[in-house]
Amino acid sequence: MSATISREVVRKRFLMCPPRHFDVTYSINPWMRPEKPVDAALAFSQWEGLRDLYVELGHTVEIIEPLPGLPDMVFAANGATVVDGRVFGARFRHVERTAEGPAYLSWFAERGYREVRWPEHINEGEGDYLVVGRRILAGTGFRTDPRSHDEAQEFFGLPVIGLTLVNPEFYHLDTALSVLSDDEVMYYPEAFTPGSRAVLEEMFPDAIRATAADAAVFGLNALSDGRHVLLPDAAVNLKARLRERGFEPIGVDLTELLKAGGSVKCCTLELRD
Ligand code: ARG
Repeated sequence: MSATISREVVRKRFLMCPPRHFDVTYSINPWMRPEKPVDAALAFSQWEGLRDLYVELGHTVEIIEPLPGLPDMVFAANGATVVDGRVFGARFRHVERTAEGPAYLSWFAERGYREVRWPEHINEGEGDYLVVGRRILAGTGFRTDPRSHDEAQEFFGLPVIGLTLVNPEFYHLDTALSVLSDDEVMYYPEAFTPGSRAVLEEMFPDAIRATAADAAVFGLNALSDGRHVLLPDAAVNLKARLRERGFEPIGVDLTELLKAGGSVKCCTLELRD
């Protein structure tokens, strides 16, 4: 199968936040154990590895300066959702992260983005909003308020399809599903309600289904440029499935950041402008 499909790279622009103040000092998801030490230097060099890889692959990486006291700010995916140059801001569920919303929004406002919305309802940016071609998949269940889905649909003028998460280990949509191209995804069915699973089967009958082992190493927290798929290195089954479909999986080590419940996708906000 792989030999017959030619996968073209789509050049992308990303926003990333260096983990200069990264730590696990509170727990807002089951991965976070403040009693377990974090190796800050290792976290930083792992993050640099991801940034360098994007640049080597021909993508552009913009940087937002991290703020002290916001140890999760490294997870740039949560900072906003950007489609057609329109910036839909994030409004965090937990007080520990609320200051990140305005910090990210200012970054956009200062750089001349004109359609910038401070949201009415709680939503955690691309953690729960994933763009597939001209449709947006929208997670809820743990973080994003389902009322935000209507707000996002009105703001972007694109169909927003709600999906409900049920397993607290997969608390954001981007921990349970990743977008591979304009019409392909991979996901972990057990992370969703039966109704949402049926919706995914209807929309993406040929999708790659992740195993429990893939999901447990955060294998779905991946970033695809249409050809390369960057994902946690330990997701061995997913890497094999991706190769069968003609993708080039690239394993990345972000084990220190996983101590906060984040990996490749969480560190990456896509600037679709
Ligand atoms: N500690 C962060 C939180 O629980 C991790 C966020 C991960 N980001 C993501 N896009 N899934 O909010």
